[in-house]
Amino acid sequence: AAPQPFRNAANTDFTKSAARDQLRAALKSFADATTSSRLLVRRGDRRPLIIGGREISDREFLPAHNPAHPSQVLGYWARATIADADAAVAAARAAQPAWAARSANERATWAERVADLLETRRHELNALEILEAGKPWAEADADISEAVDFCRFYAAEIRRIDRPRVTQPVPGERCVERWLPRGTGVVIAPWNFPLAILCGLTIAPVVAGNTVIMKPAEQTSLVAAAFMQVLIEAGLPAGVVNFLPGLGEEVGDALVRNPNIDFVAFTGSRAVGLQIWAAAGQTAPGQANLKKVICEMGGKNALIIDNDADLDEAIPATLYSAFGFSGQKCSALSRLILLDEVHDRFVERLLAAAAALPVGDPAEPGTAVGPVIDAEAHGRILRMIETGRREATRAWQAVLPTAVQASGGHYVPPTIFTGVKPEHTLAREEIFGPVLAVLRARDLDEAFAIANSTDYALTGGLFSRSPRALQRAERELVCGNVYLNRGVTGAIVERHPFGGFKMSGSGTKAGGRGYLENFLFPRVIAENV
Ligand code: SER
Repeated sequence: AAPQPFRNAANTDFTKSAARDQLRAALKSFADATTSSRLLVRRGDRRPLIIGGREISDREFLPAHNPAHPSQVLGYWARATIADADAAVAAARAAQPAWAARSANERATWAERVADLLETRRHELNALEILEAGKPWAEADADISEAVDFCRFYAAEIRRIDRPRVTQPVPGERCVERWLPRGTGVVIAPWNFPLAILCGLTIAPVVAGNTVIMKPAEQTSLVAAAFMQVLIEAGLPAGVVNFLPGLGEEVGDALVRNPNIDFVAFTGSRAVGLQIWAAAGQTAPGQANLKKVICEMGGKNALIIDNDADLDEAIPATLYSAFGFSGQKCSALSRLILLDEVHDRFVERLLAAAAALPVGDPAEPGTAVGPVIDAEAHGRILRMIETGRREATRAWQAVLPTAVQASGGHYVPPTIFTGVKPEHTLAREEIFGPVLAVLRARDLDEAFAIANSTDYALTGGLFSRSPRALQRAERELVCGNVYLNRGVTGAIVERHPFGGFKMSGSGTKAGGRGYLENFLFPRVIAENV
């Protein structure tokens, strides 16, 4: 049968009580899990490293905490050593030729099995993500959908790329382009999309015939362990993906520096991204390939509100973009630029609407804003709010509900600052938390200038009713994902290939055509016929 065209997975409709019951049941199953439960990860599990298909359990185990109830330990993960990193690279390299020798269709079919299993386990994975990352229901659910989409989309892409492409039809010569996997790489993934980004960074190189070492974020190592389990259940050959939870500064660094790796697929902070970029540039004697780095870092994303914007649309889009998942997205809105004439009216309505933001335990279905990921993030964001109070006007801050305060969770009250100037820290540094800076612009010229006056170039947008203004935004907003009359987060695979440039990244587009080429070497064959 001809392969089906790619279709995005559907999110769960939590307005239906049956869907809510399923997720509640999944949360309960995790809490009540016994050793006989057939869950991907059970409460209290000690998850081993997996190198070359072998589980390694005699390591130090570190606890995974629930950010909404930090005293709650969900399970444990093995802390890989530097020697484990070297062993994982060796195992991945040993497995690579046989994996590359399989047909593209076979690899794609495996990725589609992964997608099907993720769909089957959707509520179980949702529950784990809610508990380990503190993600609200709908956001966790969207993360599962995105992971499913990455599998199916990259499967379709490798089938397309695998067909030789004629470079130029000429009589007497057959000229075609074909692709070769780069080899063995390292995947270093963030905690904020603990399944989707880990999955996308892994499946893309692997369907393309590479083998990898998967180093998940410390904070979401159990979600990663569940994903590894799914890869295995889908029929992963030993060594094709090696699971190496551990500390970034220890094993992450050792993996990147290992001369036997050919690429690094990274999403995370700017500081770590720049270190990886530099480390990968050191070429050891005898190293086979220059190390390619696919690097996605932060953002300082701006949304401009024109004087004639539809406020009924713009206000909820602003709130969701800034405070969804507590602003812990590289795509999150952090600079709201209001044109002079609309400024006061917009602020008044924004603050009134913000007061209704449901802040609470992410395990409850109504919650829109939960805790931040850990104590370190909590402290850093609160310090940024203090800086903001010295620089600008704290126009609004949520009052945390009593239950939230009593929980000991890492909650940061969503906060809006007005009177922020482009030179303020609040307008320059990425916060990665529920803090929105409001700036004022005389006109669109100044608004675009402010929007573009940042080190980053990830997402940005404009709300306007003027076609001319929208056309200007299309041309003039310097960022990878430009959103017009909508929020600036929530990119969908294939529809919104995602990624930026400047200090936001190396200009690649996850979930877009051409992404797999990052993991392949192009070859051209010319045959005299
Ligand atoms: N892809 C996510 C979004 O668009 C961010 O990583 O929000």
